[in-house]
Amino acid sequence: MDHQLIQRAAKDILHSKKTVAFTGAGISVESGIPDFRSAQGLWRKYDPNEYATIYAFHSNPEKVWLMLKEMFQLIMKAKPNAAHIGLAELERMGLLASVITQNVDGLHQAAGNTKVIEFHGSHRTLSCLKCSQKIDGTTLKMEDLPARCSRCSSLLKPDVVFFGEPIPWEAQVMSSKESNSCTTMLVIGTSAEVYPAASLPINAKERGATIIEVNLEPTSLTDQISDYLICGSAGEIISDIVEEIKKVRGG
Ligand code: APR
Repeated sequence: MDHQLIQRAAKDILHSKKTVAFTGAGISVESGIPDFRSAQGLWRKYDPNEYATIYAFHSNPEKVWLMLKEMFQLIMKAKPNAAHIGLAELERMGLLASVITQNVDGLHQAAGNTKVIEFHGSHRTLSCLKCSQKIDGTTLKMEDLPARCSRCSSLLKPDVVFFGEPIPWEAQVMSSKESNSCTTMLVIGTSAEVYPAASLPINAKERGATIIEVNLEPTSLTDQISDYLICGSAGEIISDIVEEIKKVRGG
């Protein structure tokens, strides 16, 4: 771990007027939820064209639920890890204004963050595309999956954004506001390959924000958009940054 970069990040966050975090699947890998595009990623097992487009859900929901069942199983077991906990601590310290996440697992809220923008929706609710019935996904048990509508028995769709679906309006508005007004953006565990989400750090950079990237490997943002990359696991790096901030602040 490059301790100089940890010290630089701690200083940047301490001197920042407004810091926002932008997170991807990499931040939840240490909670047992695989990411999408790494060697062990979900898209290696499930072709997103067959399992993750809204067209695929309409044409063969049973098949799509094979993947969704696996995701729900992982999410139901998952607990926040050191990276989620570190971001919640930064919020309590008054050093993190909000978290914009591409994840649907709800782990930022479970860790204690109160201002979380879910850019790709959430697994917490499911909707019937036939009769618009909505149910609370957090009460579901494994034996309830695939989840069916109690009114018309159609297969329910989790309120997560499938490829081909629009980003929830409120998430678009709030995330633009946050990326337009932040002076520092902590970009954690995303390959930054999926748009429009990946435009948020670019947006922030264009408005003069410092972009601190935390990832296991370089991404399309590295050396282009991010001011520096701290390479390694999110859990370790975010905890080290929080510890360094506490040290600088004098315990
Ligand atoms: N610590 C830090 N970074 C990690 C870790 C870790 N423990 N584990 C994986 N990573 C990094 C990977 O190296 C990769 O660069 O996290 C990144 C995850 O990238 P993706 O799998 O592409 O996930 P993400 O960027 O969130 O995908 C964006 O695409 O599939 C859609 O809707 C889905 O929200 C998702 C979107």
